[in-house]
Amino acid sequence: MSAELNSNSCATPAELFPREQDIPANWRPGPLREQREYLVNGFFRIWTGALTEVFSPIPVRREDRLEPRLLGRVPDLDRAAALEALAAARAAYDRGRGDWPTLGIVRRAAVMREFGRRLAACRTEVVLLLMWETAKSRAEAEAEFDRTLRNLDEALEAAQNLVSSGEVAAREGISARCGRAPRGVALCLGPCNHPLNETFATLIPALLMGNTVVLKPPRHGVLLFRPLLALWRDLLPPGVVNVIYGEGDEVLLPLMRSGDVDALAFIGSPHVGQALVKAHPRPLRLKAIMGLGAKNAAVVLPGADLQQAVRECLLGALAFNGQRCTALKILFVHCDEVSRFIDLFLRGLRAVRWGMPWQQGVWLTPLIELHRPAYLRELLADALRNGAQILNPEGGAGGGPWFPPTAVYPVTCAMRLWREEQFGPLVPIVSFENWSEVEDYLDQCDYAQQISLFARDAAQVEPLVDPLVNQVGRVNLNCKCQRGPDHLPFGGRKDSAVETLSAREVLTSLSLPVVVAARDSAESRRLMDSLSASARCGFFPEE
Ligand code: G3H
Repeated sequence: MSAELNSNSCATPAELFPREQDIPANWRPGPLREQREYLVNGFFRIWTGALTEVFSPIPVRREDRLEPRLLGRVPDLDRAAALEALAAARAAYDRGRGDWPTLGIVRRAAVMREFGRRLAACRTEVVLLLMWETAKSRAEAEAEFDRTLRNLDEALEAAQNLVSSGEVAAREGISARCGRAPRGVALCLGPCNHPLNETFATLIPALLMGNTVVLKPPRHGVLLFRPLLALWRDLLPPGVVNVIYGEGDEVLLPLMRSGDVDALAFIGSPHVGQALVKAHPRPLRLKAIMGLGAKNAAVVLPGADLQQAVRECLLGALAFNGQRCTALKILFVHCDEVSRFIDLFLRGLRAVRWGMPWQQGVWLTPLIELHRPAYLRELLADALRNGAQILNPEGGAGGGPWFPPTAVYPVTCAMRLWREEQFGPLVPIVSFENWSEVEDYLDQCDYAQQISLFARDAAQVEPLVDPLVNQVGRVNLNCKCQRGPDHLPFGGRKDSAVETLSAREVLTSLSLPVVVAARDSAESRRLMDSLSASARCGFFPEE
């Protein structure tokens, strides 16, 4: 691979992809990690079959050559091993009679709190692996880790609130205790752009609600799960968390086809999500919770504060290379503003820093997936063929593993970039005259997650809010699209999401409302009170 690169923060490719000796000692990836362990039924199993090599998006530079950097190897499990993990999860659930599902939410919360304490101690190792496996900047890797701990606390708090709302006053002669019961076995699958945070976004609620789990880490961001295996093994009853590795077709489809997965929590592409759901033989018994693709638009209306719009659009489109489902993936700018907007955008773009994850202030780093630069070049070539131009001098330059930030204009509905989710630092800009053009885009788009609206005049925004909230999951006013803060519901429509992914909502999606009821009488009240006081009855949390 050759490294012909342009960079505004690095004078030469040599500076962009450093030689080994130029990597600061505390940010080196460390020795090759060869992992044969996986977690089933409370034990580390040792896989003696084939291993999958895990490469970093950051290649090794030897003189002027770039070579793939091998970080480690993980088990490439087969179907039988995956099914064994599922059987362990089923046995731990034991048709609802297992230790974990009957423990009650209060005691499960105590275990998860301890899990959080032990997880916090893994920060340095996990952050380093996040940086090397996903090329995420140090700041973003640390933020992902810390956010995961915060989400755990939020889930614990939300679970506590669920518990305290259980008692229902007698009505029509019936007194009742309402609560939530687990769904059964959950399959938790996170994405490679937020491998820790978004795997835990469903794993923690699944466990808190008493489900047992099979987890498969994503292809990138897989080694960072190794230090966590021991935490689950040591803290949870056997079989409550089982961690498998391998190719999706080999290990995930058989799990789904078995019909023994009760809840599928998946964050990734709609194509994979759909294939998994379709594989389930009894789809009515499957609860799917999914965060999928998106093609969020920013719309800059006449008279908007362009400085602010540009700042937010740069951040929204390019932070972490645009590899966020919530990234701004197309910018609609009113024709009266477009030339000034582009001018400011290009000025801002020149200040955006590229580099390696450990360098201060970098937004743009190598892309996670090796195939992504070639895909972005395809989209770019298609746009250029159909009349668009690259606006910034370094845009589209180079080959190999690096794709520079590239602004393209004017983008039209004739181009693939109009509808395909680029998931990279390729920024399409559209000039529009009438709002109906934006409406057409929203209507034709396969996705409907969020939108960012830039305007100063309330009279412009007022008529738009109602139609927009009926089309997407979140309308951002004068700011970029994003998931957080995490107490807000995060979902979408069309092919963007199934259910809502915030802590409180996932707790309810991964559980069912259930009721213990009795004819209201002094005797049944005594019985209910004694159940509440009993340590053997987890459903009735001790008051
Ligand atoms: O990649 C999709 C994520 O859910 C985006 O989350 O807005 O916090 O980066 P974020």
